[in-house]
Amino acid sequence: MHYEFTADYLTGIEFIDNEHQKLFDIANETFDLLSNNFVNDKYDRIISLISELREYTITHFADEEKYMESIQYLHRFSHKLEHIKFVEKLNSINLEEIDINQKDGIVDLLQFLVEWLQNHIKKKDCRIQKQ
Ligand SMILES: [Fe+2]
Repeated sequence: MHYEFTADYLTGIEFIDNEHQKLFDIANETFDLLSNNFVNDKYDRIISLISELREYTITHFADEEKYMESIQYLHRFSHKLEHIKFVEKLNSINLEEIDINQKDGIVDLLQFLVEWLQNHIKKKDCRIQKQ
């Protein structure tokens, strides 16, 4: 396991923390795929990671937004905007380019995801409880 879900990523909201664990799992799967030297053609696996991420974040963001709404979290609108940007970026990934240069495709996906864990989860999600 490369990316560890340590205490500084905990929001203190149990269901959100459980859902974040899954995003760490996907980041670790992406890292494993990058480091796997036994698979030549990784295209199908990259595509399946992207769709997994897409499906999962739709549910996760909706859950988080519902919670922010329920506590009338002050920064819920700007927070939601970050979710929208994440989804937009995920949807704008050029799959053809990934097929041409698979290694760069995985590296980009991983960077995008890790940036999200470190900046959004750690800095924004962790603030939800302490407004
Ligand atoms: Fe969030």
